[in-house]
Amino acid sequence: MKIVVLNGSPKGDISVTMQYINYIQKKFNQHELKIINISQRINQIERDKETFHSIISDIKSSDGVMWAFPLYVFTIHSNYQRFIELIFERNVEDAFKEKYTSILATSIHFYDHTAINYMNSICDDLNMNYFDYFSLHMYDLEKEDIRKNLLKFVQNYFDAIENKVITIKNYNPVKYSPISYIPKIEHNKIDVLNKKIIIVADSLENINLKNMINKFRSLFSKSIELVNLQDIDMKGSCLGCLKCGYNYECVYSGKDDYINFYNRKLKTANIIIFAGTIKYRHLSSTWKRFLDRGFFNTHTPSLSNKQVGFIISGALNQIPNLRQILEAYTQWQRSNLVGFITDEYDTSIEIDKQLHAFACKLIKLSIVNYSKPSTFLGVAGMKIFRDEIWGSIRFPFVADHKAYKALNVYDFAQKKYKSRIINSILILLCKFPSIRKEIYSNRMKDSIIEPLKKILENETV
Ligand SMILES: Cc1cc2nc3c(=O)[nH]c(=O)nc-3n(C[C@H](O)[C@H](O)[C@H](O)COP(=O)(O)O)c2cc1C
Repeated sequence: MKIVVLNGSPKGDISVTMQYINYIQKKFNQHELKIINISQRINQIERDKETFHSIISDIKSSDGVMWAFPLYVFTIHSNYQRFIELIFERNVEDAFKEKYTSILATSIHFYDHTAINYMNSICDDLNMNYFDYFSLHMYDLEKEDIRKNLLKFVQNYFDAIENKVITIKNYNPVKYSPISYIPKIEHNKIDVLNKKIIIVADSLENINLKNMINKFRSLFSKSIELVNLQDIDMKGSCLGCLKCGYNYECVYSGKDDYINFYNRKLKTANIIIFAGTIKYRHLSSTWKRFLDRGFFNTHTPSLSNKQVGFIISGALNQIPNLRQILEAYTQWQRSNLVGFITDEYDTSIEIDKQLHAFACKLIKLSIVNYSKPSTFLGVAGMKIFRDEIWGSIRFPFVADHKAYKALNVYDFAQKKYKSRIINSILILLCKFPSIRKEIYSNRMKDSIIEPLKKILENETV
């Protein structure tokens, strides 16, 4: 069989992900795994129609397509996303139709599920026969049990192709026919006070997005800065080179204006609005490139204590995966997510009201410097980073290690000596059946709330 492997790593052949593909090829040498370096060659693929169409004809003549990619900032690399946009923009979806497809992802398991959900939904949109995914930690190849399971996964995938097994569709097509939003209501101006607000948008060609942004800006007493991503001088997308790991210095430092923009405009704002149009289940690849380039801050939160909101044109309510990515992004950045405003309402008046309430809330929460605690998205994500940076990837991420010490990220349970001592005593005492019975039957509920009651008692009215 001929399987086309679409490589999502900007590092091309010298990529972690491709070592897994090389391993699979070695073990299944009766089949051809044709690797195409998509992310690394995206400029050529986009510019040169012949290159693009030779990839498409490889896909047409293949028995299966493997999406093999590393995680980049909650999903796939921006160049890989651009390739997906090109498939739809250039109407070559038919080449993918009914092809048996699988996903092989490598990462440190930080939001690997959102990348997989996204790619699965794209495969469903392309009417492919989606088999399954295999999500690997970048160093899993060192583990024998995982290697064995990887081979079982691949064997099952090949069997599915040969036996034409029925596959399951996990995502319904997105249905989106928005109203034409035209602002209707005049509101009183909201006092900006000393708050610095910035809107970053990917393109203003979409009239609904443009009108929502204009309406939002018009709500304030002062002029609000709007930056179009197209106007920021970005020489390229993230290369995954990890030069930033030592001291946040990027390979593009001094070569384009991205870092200057990020540090001077975003980091100094009190309120940040990300605005964009949903394109094929994500914000555009232009947005993704912007987010990927933000990795010069490596794993250190760089937008702490800001109020963040999203103005989005598109069917966000039908794409909970994207909502989760954006929410998780704000929690990881330690900023406060104020909300999402979209054009999914029945009337322009409703959108006007939403935008007004949103603007008031942003200012109010900024004044009181409000920050809601993280949910599982932020708490669990940070624990992954904490363990990875303390452990196996402290080098090359030297800057993160310093920052994590300063930010008290290293809150390992084994350092909580008081609770360790109490636990040991209680576990020992519970070896006596009578004490165990007394604690588990009569004291449990009271003792759980004891520390909370102490706070209540000490708090003044
Ligand atoms: C810019 C950048 C962003 C990354 N983002 C994530 C991420 O969001 N989640 C994750 O688990 N790993 C993330 N990683 C780690 C990579 O996914 C992981 O190292 C992967 O195995 C690299 O594969 P490659 O060498 O094939 O590119 C990121 C790495 C880089 C360089």
